[in-house]
Amino acid sequence: MVISEMHGEKGSMGSPTGGRKGNIGDVGPSGRKGEVGEKGAIGVKGPNGNRGVDGEKGTKGEMGQAGIVGITGSRGSKGENGFHGLNGEHGEKGIKGEKGIMGNKGPVGNTGQRGARGQTGEKGQPGESGRTITCGSGWEQFMRSCYYFQFRSKKTWDAAKNDCHRMGGFLVKIDNTIESWFLKNFRTVEKNTGHVWIGAHDSVQESRFIWESDNTVLTYTDWNPGEPNNAGRQEDCVHMNNNNGYKWNDIKCSHVFSYICEKH
Ligand code: BGC
Ligand code: CA
Repeated sequence: MVISEMHGEKGSMGSPTGGRKGNIGDVGPSGRKGEVGEKGAIGVKGPNGNRGVDGEKGTKGEMGQAGIVGITGSRGSKGENGFHGLNGEHGEKGIKGEKGIMGNKGPVGNTGQRGARGQTGEKGQPGESGRTITCGSGWEQFMRSCYYFQFRSKKTWDAAKNDCHRMGGFLVKIDNTIESWFLKNFRTVEKNTGHVWIGAHDSVQESRFIWESDNTVLTYTDWNPGEPNNAGRQEDCVHMNNNNGYKWNDIKCSHVFSYICEKH
C-alpha cells in the first residue's frame, strides 16, 4: 500500500509589530511516493478452474500372457443309437461229435420161469476146456486181459517194452473204445501219471504204425488232432498225452515215461 505525505507549504511571515494571524494557506502539491509497504497476508483460495480438453486416444497395448487352463466341462449327453447291422453270413457246418462212452452194465434180470422139459437132443461134441484168468498181484483184469499200470518207474519206450516182456506181457495194445475208456480211467487210481507209453510204433516203416505185441497195423486209433506228425522226423513211438485227455501222439522213443503192460 502507498502512503502519501499530507502536509501543505509554510505561509508568509507577519509584520514585526504584530499583526493578525494570517489565513491558512492553500493545500500544497502532492508529496513523494512513499516506500513499498510490508507484504500482505495470503488471500482466500479461488474457485476451481474449468475441465481441460480431452487428450488424444492412446495406441493399442501388447497382448497379455495366456490364461490358466479351465476346468473340464461336464460329460456330453448320450449319442443316438446306430442303425441295425445286416444279417451275417450263414456259418459253416460244425464238426461231427465223438462217439459216446458205453453205458454201465444193467442190473441182473429176474429169474425166469422154469420152461417145459425139452426133447432129448443129439449128442454134442466134447467142449473146449474153459479158462479162468488169474492176473496175479499188481495186475488188473478187464474183459479178457490183464493190465499192469506202471506209474512209479519211468523208462524209455524200449526199456518199458522189455519190462513188460519180462513180466510175461507186452506194451498195451488198444483195440477199441471200450478198452481205451478203461485205460483212461487209470486217473482214478493215479493222478500224476505224466505221459504214458503204449505199444504202437512206426520204427520199421515210417508212418506205418504197428503194435509191438503182434506186429499188426493199428485199426482203432485215438490220435490227438494233428498227430502223428513225426516232428523233427524222429518220432517213432506212441504215448498217451496227459495234457490232452490221454489222446495219442508220436514222439521220440528216448523220452522216459510211465507205461502200461497188457497180458492175456
Ligand atoms: C507236438 C508233438 C510233438 C511234441 C514233441 C508237441 O508240441 O505237438 O507233435 O511230438 O511236441 O515233444
Ligand atoms: Ca508228434
